[in-house]
Amino acid sequence: MNYIGSKLSLLEFLEKSIERVVDKDSIVFCDLFAGTGAVGAYFKRKGYKVIANDIQYYSFVLNKQYIENHQHLKFEKLSKKIPELNNIKILERKNAVCDYLSKIKGKKGFIYKNYCLGGTKNQEFERQYFSDENGMKCDAIRMKIEEWKKNKLITNSEYYFLLATLLETIDKRANTASVYGAFLKQLKKTAQIPFVLKPAELIINDQEHEVFNEDVNKLVEKIKGDILYLDPPYNQRQYATNYHLLETIAKYDNPKIYGKTGLREYKSQKSLYCSRNQVKKAFAHLISNAKQKYIFLSYSNEGLMTPDDIKEIMSSKGKYGYFTKEYNRFKADKDKNRDFSSDRTLEFLHYVVCL
Ligand SMILES: C[S@@+](CC[C@H](N)C(=O)[O-])C[C@H]1O[C@@H](n2cnc3c(N)ncnc32)[C@H](O)[C@@H]1O
Repeated sequence: MNYIGSKLSLLEFLEKSIERVVDKDSIVFCDLFAGTGAVGAYFKRKGYKVIANDIQYYSFVLNKQYIENHQHLKFEKLSKKIPELNNIKILERKNAVCDYLSKIKGKKGFIYKNYCLGGTKNQEFERQYFSDENGMKCDAIRMKIEEWKKNKLITNSEYYFLLATLLETIDKRANTASVYGAFLKQLKKTAQIPFVLKPAELIINDQEHEVFNEDVNKLVEKIKGDILYLDPPYNQRQYATNYHLLETIAKYDNPKIYGKTGLREYKSQKSLYCSRNQVKKAFAHLISNAKQKYIFLSYSNEGLMTPDDIKEIMSSKGKYGYFTKEYNRFKADKDKNRDFSSDRTLEFLHYVVCL
C-alpha cells in the first residue's frame, strides 16, 4: 500500500542501525505506530516476536494478518459452502477462497451508495472514489466475509486474512491521487480495472505475536518487550481523514458521513502527534512510560518536533544517539514531474539505551 510515512524503503537502514545498538538477547520488537505493518513484518521475518499496534482499525486488520497470522490457513469449515476446497491442497486454499470471492455478484451496499457515481447521482454530494462495478463488488465481498464470520464458517485468522486482502486490493483500484482526502473527477485508468482479490502474503513462523488497536500512550503502560520502535506521524496530516474509506471498509459499520468527501466522525482517533501544541507533551509521556531497554524513533527533519526537542526528551531516559538517511519524500501523485531535489528529505532514527 502506498501509505504516508511508510518505511518500506528504509527497512534495511532500520535493521542495520538497530542491530548496531541492541544486544543479541533482544527478541521482542514492539512496533506501536504500525501503519501497514511493513516494519513489524520485516522483523518478524528476521525471527523476532512482534507486538504491533495502531489507532486505526484498518491498520489493526493489516497487522492481524501480516503480524499475528503465522500458520497456514485451512478454511476447513468453509468447505460446507465451497465443496471444491476439499480437493485443494492446504497451501492453495486461500487462493481458491479469494478466487471464489472475486467472482461473486456485486451488491449495492454502503460503499456503492455513498462513494460511487451511480449510488450518489443527483444527491447533495456526488462522489466517485471507485467505479460502480468495483464499489458493488467491494460491498458484496465485505458482506460475504462478515456473513461467514457470523456463521462461524471462518476462524478469526481467516477473517483478518480476507479483510486485509480486500483492503489491499480495493486500495489499488481507488480513484484518488493516493489518499482518500479527495477523489478524482474522471475515473483514472487503474480505477477502471475490475478488481480481483490478490491474496495477502502469509508470513509463516513459530512465534506468537500480538496486535493491538489502541492509543499508543495508553498501551505503552501495559506492554513489555526489548525494543520499542516508534514511527509517529510527523506533521499535521491526520491518518483518520486521509484513510477514512479504508476505515469504513474495514469496520463496515454504516457510519454517519458528511461533506464532499464523505468523511466519518474521527474524534477518538485524532492523533496528538499531529498537533503542534500537543506533540511534545504526548511524546514525553510516551518515553517516560516505556518499559523497553531500547527505544528508537523514526522522524523526519521537517517534523513538528525538532531534533533538539527529541534529544532532550529521549536523553532523560539514558544514552542518546541517532542515525540519518536521505530518502525520497512521500509522493501523492506519481504522474507529476517534480523537481528531484525537493523530493529528498532527511530521515532520522533517534535512539536511547535506557539506564
Ligand atoms: C508514519 S505512520 C506509520 C507507518 C509504518 N511504519 C509503515 O511503514 O507503514 C504513523 C501511524 O501512526 C498511527 N497513529 C497516529 N497516532 C497514533 C496514536 N496516538 N496511537 C497509535 N497509533 C497512532 C497512524 O494511524 C499511522 O498508521
